[in-house]
Amino acid sequence: MNKTKSIVVAALIIGLGVSACNSGNMRRNPGKTYAPDMTYSRAYDAYTDNPNFSDKQTSRLPVAGTIAQGHELPDHLVEGDTNAYKTFTTHLRFNEAELEEGKRLFDIYCGICHGQKLDGNGPLYNDGNGKFAAAPANFKDGKYLNMPVGQMYAAIKFGKNMMGSHAAQLDIKQRWQVIAYIKKFQSENGGAPFTFGTAELMASTTAATTTTDTAAADKAK
Ligand code: HEC
Repeated sequence: MNKTKSIVVAALIIGLGVSACNSGNMRRNPGKTYAPDMTYSRAYDAYTDNPNFSDKQTSRLPVAGTIAQGHELPDHLVEGDTNAYKTFTTHLRFNEAELEEGKRLFDIYCGICHGQKLDGNGPLYNDGNGKFAAAPANFKDGKYLNMPVGQMYAAIKFGKNMMGSHAAQLDIKQRWQVIAYIKKFQSENGGAPFTFGTAELMASTTAATTTTDTAAADKAK
């Protein structure tokens, strides 16, 4: 009896081994498709012909008037409308952490030319000895110190002469975040008072200014 049992078990084990090795005959046909919409995409693949459009293109620009994710803030600035550049602004206000993020973005995308010290002398320019021939704006300089924020925004969005557009690198909030960081820096280096802060930040900025003023007044005495 015991012998029969062990023969059966051995046969089963060998059988298993054989069927496991026999993958060459594995059924590869997926069988019946019960929900074809889930199995086969109804969307046209990128770069394939699309019969719904007269030009047959599948990869298209977004429909006019629609807004991409991350770009949900209004921006109607039109290239070349330099009058609008001067007055264009935002309702966005940033706290300390968001300004830090503005600095991080500036250092990544702008610092290489404009310098992490915002002096227009990043490694790519390097006093004219770098790879980039055109002198980037020096944000500590008179001409740029009080540049309207809309004009700065236009430079990021459309580029300016040798500076290329950075619209693809920074979404609309990030562009303003970078500008706020520049403006905060400028306000601390002889520029107009900083106005891009949250109520909380502005309170601390005003307090700091008042302290400095008092110190200056004390000195004057
Ligand atoms: C590849 C180098 C380069 C990079 C990167 C770069 N810039 Fe510039 N930028 C320039 C140069 C060069 C000019 C001077 C253009 C001119 O006036 O001819 C300039 C000018 C500007 C101006 C002045 C625009 C005006 O109307 O005169 C602003 C503002 C500015 N840049 C902001 C930025 C910001 C913000 C970033 C990062 C998002 C950035 N730039 C990245 C090279 C660069």
